[in-house]
Amino acid sequence: MIEDQRREPKYYLVKRHLLELIAEYPAGTPVPTERELAELLITSRTTVRQALSELVTEGRLVRRQGSGTYVAEPKLAWPLQMSSFTEQAESSGLKVETTLVSAERVPATAEIAELLRLKVGAQVHRIERLRVVNGSPMALEQSHLSARRFPGLAKSLRQTSSLYRVLKEEWGVTAVDAVETIETAPASPREAGLLATDTGAPMLILSRHSMDAEGVPVEWVRSWYRGDRYTFVARLGAPGSSS
Ligand code: GLP
Repeated sequence: MIEDQRREPKYYLVKRHLLELIAEYPAGTPVPTERELAELLITSRTTVRQALSELVTEGRLVRRQGSGTYVAEPKLAWPLQMSSFTEQAESSGLKVETTLVSAERVPATAEIAELLRLKVGAQVHRIERLRVVNGSPMALEQSHLSARRFPGLAKSLRQTSSLYRVLKEEWGVTAVDAVETIETAPASPREAGLLATDTGAPMLILSRHSMDAEGVPVEWVRSWYRGDRYTFVARLGAPGSSS
């Protein structure tokens, strides 16, 4: 066994200890204060603080302003599949509210034009929506779609919260397949504000490039999901097999 205990920082030992402790308690259980933990574990408050901060960042603990630190709710397991956010949340028994943060028409940049197969400068909708699941802000989505193909889309999204429902009902368009990538990045102050988290908190950024049945691009979407609240789940098949 290759293990070098000496390299493990002190706070990490504290963190491991806290993880064992957390595992025994249900969500919502308060954890002892920094001072209590420092006394209990015979270490400094700075060391305890560092361990607690990492556990908050990872979504194991949650801090409530002026109240204390608690065992967090389990993360939401979110399957990676060709479904709409609304459909996915509803089929998992979750309550989703979607807020239109902004809707503009902007000229396509070279990148967007290529992705949506349009001319550079063609008008595109740039729509930002906030997804609130069971009362907690979970994701911020910025979608780009052709304005010529989907005139009046922003207006429709003020009435109906599901983009996929609107595309199907108004234009008979369904996104049937997509390429999706996942990256991480720290939350910007704006993202943190909208998602009620801290600037620098880890985000999972999903980018989806969807096509309709004819292979025509439908949308280019970037979604910022709270990294402390989501686990993405993909079912993997053998290469070449369709699952
Ligand atoms: C997911 C996808 C987006 C898609 C959206 C549609 O969140 N990442 O690419 O636009 O679902 O969801 P809805 O129909 O609820 O607006």
